[in-house]
Amino acid sequence: MITLIDGERTGSISVADGAVLRGDGCFEAIQVYGTVPFALDDHLDRLARSAALLELDLPPRALLGDWCRLLAAEGGDGVIRIILTRGSVIPDSDVPSRCIVLHHASEPVPAPLRVLPVPAPWHSAGRDWELAGAKTISYAPNQAATRRARRAGFHEALLHADDGTILEGPTFAIAWVVDETVETPTLDLKILDSITRRFALEDAARLGIAVREGRFPLSRLAAASEVMAWSTTKEVAAVGAVGDLVFEPGPVTAALADAYRERITAEVRAGGGSGA
Ligand SMILES: Cc1ncc(COP(=O)(O)O)c(C=O)c1O
Repeated sequence: MITLIDGERTGSISVADGAVLRGDGCFEAIQVYGTVPFALDDHLDRLARSAALLELDLPPRALLGDWCRLLAAEGGDGVIRIILTRGSVIPDSDVPSRCIVLHHASEPVPAPLRVLPVPAPWHSAGRDWELAGAKTISYAPNQAATRRARRAGFHEALLHADDGTILEGPTFAIAWVVDETVETPTLDLKILDSITRRFALEDAARLGIAVREGRFPLSRLAAASEVMAWSTTKEVAAVGAVGDLVFEPGPVTAALADAYRERITAEVRAGGGSGA
């Protein structure tokens, strides 16, 4: 079941909207555990940053928080998406920008994930530009990369720059372990500032696990003992293959996955973030 709401509980998008015609807008995906939208404050922060970069107005934050909590209470375990659209981009139509919140069931995450390196010529890969850091809805290239990986028998793509620098997955951050150190691409590469990545790096620091953020070539993975994917919907997920390289789920992935689950348990017990 998909439940849509907006201010009027109509939840529709006009075909004259730039979100439909040009893929112009931004969004967030928030995982619901029980009736709690996890890390709501962090997602609303990032949505506000995306909206500002796109020069779009957001409804008041308290209202967005209320909508998310309402849908979480109605829908339970699953995913909430907040979508902010551009509004009309064609003459003679007067469609305002809309903010729609929807709830849908979660997709199961394959364990372990198998990912295929795929070149991402559209990715800024470190060059700055107006929308760097924005979580826009323009995901057609990412979707094409995922389809390419699936056609080749993998679950997901691992995006890399033209020179082979590892970037991110189409919908997740990537990390691996070399000599007991977690390595992950730097945010300087203009990958998405993943909330799960942030939590995992904080947890690693707390657990005394060394971390190295940087620019790494795909060949670096040949030295890795374990590889993991980080995202709101995948949480901390073991990666069992990157192309021809095969990995066993390892202790660092397990420790970070446990730490992430502990965060969820603590937040659910506390009744969720304020959203304020
Ligand atoms: C390109 C990209 N990188 C990373 C992520 C993971 O971000 P988060 O942990 O905030 O879900 C996402 C999530 O959708 C994404 O689209």
